[in-house]
Amino acid sequence: MKLSVSARAVAAAAVATTMLLTGGAVADAASAPARPAAAPDIPLAGVKAHLSQLQSIATANGGNRAHGRAGYKASLDYVKAKLDAAGYTTTVQQFTASGRTGYNLIADWPGGDANQVVMAGSHLDSVSSGAGINDNGSGSAAVLEAALAVCRAQYKPTKHLRFAWWGAEELGLVGSRYYVNRLATGDRSRISAYLNFDMIGSPNAGYFVYDDDPAIEKTFKDYFSGINVPTEIETEGDGRSDHAPFKSAGVPVGGLFTGASRTMTAAQAAKWGGTAGRAFDRCYHSSCDTTANINDTALDRNSDALAHAVWELSE
Ligand code: TRP
Ligand code: CA
Ligand code: ZN
Repeated sequence: MKLSVSARAVAAAAVATTMLLTGGAVADAASAPARPAAAPDIPLAGVKAHLSQLQSIATANGGNRAHGRAGYKASLDYVKAKLDAAGYTTTVQQFTASGRTGYNLIADWPGGDANQVVMAGSHLDSVSSGAGINDNGSGSAAVLEAALAVCRAQYKPTKHLRFAWWGAEELGLVGSRYYVNRLATGDRSRISAYLNFDMIGSPNAGYFVYDDDPAIEKTFKDYFSGINVPTEIETEGDGRSDHAPFKSAGVPVGGLFTGASRTMTAAQAAKWGGTAGRAFDRCYHSSCDTTANINDTALDRNSDALAHAVWELSE
């Protein structure tokens, strides 16, 4: 805004008056640029508390949280209750896959520009062989904790925030496909970014960033370079997770991944630590994908990177 000389004088006088009233402490605030707050540090303990609840849910329901099983619905109810208590507007979207009912959970943070929606999502279902704590309790718990951090900070971004937990990913991206297919064409173009988190606590962790959209990729890479963690482009499974339906619909996508059944190379072990010649996740799709199958450092860094991207891309 361009102020006339007299308007400037009035503004200056107003600041001077305020300073008199407050002893000058307001001067910095008055002259500071309108820079939105940085993302908070996501507490690892909070993310791990969700993982332990998901493990208990699996244990109480035949050892898994798979599509169409009781452990899936119990997982969804757990996440939904946390979001409802935090003030989210939650929607359960029901679909059928392989003859069983499946569910997506969508949580909208009230406010922000409905024409610019930033989404973060993760699949909440496991395979039937195990509890699915790294795949994908890790992404689900981190997205949940970031959503709760938005509430704790009472973050009021310019853009509208939406979080999602997908059903039946393990059957072939069924839930996320269903969601994208049912979006009106206009609503697809209102999504400015979809961020995907599928396996972000692999025990022998790599640090992989999706390279689909350059601006989103840069947002994640900036976070990791700020903590001196080198990253690589994610190549293990292009199109193998829930960002694929969004990308096909023309939505800019990005995400993080710490590796599945591929083997860590010697060069990767040298820069990240870990064991060369061993899979990033030896328990991928197995019964040993429990709370013991998590690298805390990787989970913490990726959760913080997730929050950084949600904050930066929505301000
Ligand atoms: N989506 C796969 C699963 O849930 C895991 C996976 C393999 C993956 N490769 C990937 C996830 C690449 C993200 C990116 O079983
Ligand atoms: Ca943290
Ligand atoms: Zn997965």
